[in-house]
Amino acid sequence: MEQQTGEWVRAAALAEVRRRRRLAVTVEGRRIALFLVGDDVYALDDVCVHKQRSLSKGAVLNGRVICPGHQWVFDPETGEIEGRDECQPSHAVRVDGGDVYVDPRPRILSEEHPS
Ligand code: FES
Repeated sequence: MEQQTGEWVRAAALAEVRRRRRLAVTVEGRRIALFLVGDDVYALDDVCVHKQRSLSKGAVLNGRVICPGHQWVFDPETGEIEGRDECQPSHAVRVDGGDVYVDPRPRILSEEHPS
């Protein structure tokens, strides 16, 4: 199967992300958490790789996402977890006009399993 590149799917209105600062959306059946960090929007899988809590119910502190489950600390861009080898799947984000688009394919999987 031919691999598609730049598969952007509209996820939310930018105004809503700015207002709520963190929210979960479902994109092509996948729950994705959007975070406003400074002026930038980031996207991680909403379901925590640890014990499946919802990252969108966590906090953003000092530019990091804190899981509400056990307070693991995530880099919102890469999904890297402080002090851990695991990584939360992350998604590319594009803001176009008043809309936020995400690539529903996680960066981790596409890098580890190039086709
Ligand atoms: S469920 Fe996220 S840190 Fe435990």
